[in-house]
Amino acid sequence: MSTLPKPSLSQNGQVTVVLGSQWGDEGKGKLTDMLAGEMDICARCAGGNNAGHTIVANVGPEQVKTKFDFHLLPSGLVNPRCVGFIGSGVVVHVPSFFSEMDTLEKKGLKCDNRLFLSDRAHLVFDFHQVVDGLKEVELGGSSIGTTKKGIGPAYSSKASRSGLRVHHLYDFDTFAQKFRKLVEARFKRYGNFEYDTEGEIARYRAFAERLRPFVVDGVTFIHSMLSSNRRVLVEGANALMLDLDYGTYPFVTSSSTGIGGVCTGLGIPPQSIGKVIGVTKAYTSRVGAGPFPTELNDDIMTHLQEVGAEYGTTTGRRRRCGWLDMVMLRYSCLINGYTCLNLTKLDVLDGLKELKVATNYMINGKELASFPADLSMLAKVEVVYKTFPGWEGPISEVTEYQQLPQTCREYVEFIEDFLGIPIEWIGVGPGRQSMLHRPIANK
Ligand code: IMP
Repeated sequence: MSTLPKPSLSQNGQVTVVLGSQWGDEGKGKLTDMLAGEMDICARCAGGNNAGHTIVANVGPEQVKTKFDFHLLPSGLVNPRCVGFIGSGVVVHVPSFFSEMDTLEKKGLKCDNRLFLSDRAHLVFDFHQVVDGLKEVELGGSSIGTTKKGIGPAYSSKASRSGLRVHHLYDFDTFAQKFRKLVEARFKRYGNFEYDTEGEIARYRAFAERLRPFVVDGVTFIHSMLSSNRRVLVEGANALMLDLDYGTYPFVTSSSTGIGGVCTGLGIPPQSIGKVIGVTKAYTSRVGAGPFPTELNDDIMTHLQEVGAEYGTTTGRRRRCGWLDMVMLRYSCLINGYTCLNLTKLDVLDGLKELKVATNYMINGKELASFPADLSMLAKVEVVYKTFPGWEGPISEVTEYQQLPQTCREYVEFIEDFLGIPIEWIGVGPGRQSMLHRPIANK
């Protein structure tokens, strides 16, 4: 008799998903941290250590305020009761796995027996990171502006069926042979860059032993959790407009960052998913290159960058900023089917006299019927804006939705009506407590 968990008919929406709805950096970490308190498992399903968010939490019996930077590990680990799971769709740079874990442990959060990694996850090696940089140089003026974490090259190895997965570490002779072949192929393509292949193999022999207690059969693991009614939170990485298929290709990351990636990355069926929360910043930002129709290049952009502290947590780069784009958001809602939204950083708009929101894209006086696939078309769109009066603020001390200035509520309700999706949480300041909750019917 198979010991695999029996498929459960009660796969009844126990999985809650948090996804970025724009180009990343929407502030997913804060909501994830809030929700992780009610969850048993926090899982990553796609991407690698290209993601980044900072969480400030009180730790230990003395509740010391501590800052955590997460890139690869699920941020729900901040809650000592929550188990972290890295699913099969993630690409894992093992040295980063250990260094993030060591930092967590130094700050008082033990990970033994509460951090698990799917044996089907692919590995990112240092040579993938070198190649990431070389590819960018080769692209010259049309480079993507990647995080140089080796994400694209690792997913390329996976798609070309020559990649190495976690389970390969436990058949080490085969691992070493395949590894040498992979590096040789990169030397042929990019020339003999400096790389100590044998030294790396030796390091991985040691890593394999250290990693062993964390490795699980990902499918059995997640389904055992579901069938014992554990609550699972999926922490999306990157965001929909960086999705390999639906983002602004080729200025995207190399994974499925939307709802599809949750099913494929964790090996779970759609009916196990309940709430899908789209995290949406009250304006738009983007790191790296690529089209951005509502981008600003004036004092308002400086305001958004400075007040919104728009610097990347992974690379430290300044983020490009612009107005909220409803055309892009409607497209994002269609693909991900958000059941509600978390509007973040609304307070960053405090003090602006007027606010604009993109409602249409036009080309030669004609409205576009969709978000265009073709970037040359996207570059040509004339954006139609609706203008709203601003509000004075500060709104960061507000604790009830109704206490927000009327013009601020008009802005929020316009977004909600335009998208037809309720906004359940509103971020009004950087603090953990600065999040308004509006309970919605039929959640
Ligand atoms: P890669 O994921 O490092 O290959 O980078 C591809 C593109 O996605 C670049 O424009 C990055 O700046 C962007 N990117 C990747 N991860 C994130 C993220 O978590 N937030 C924002 N942008 C990201």
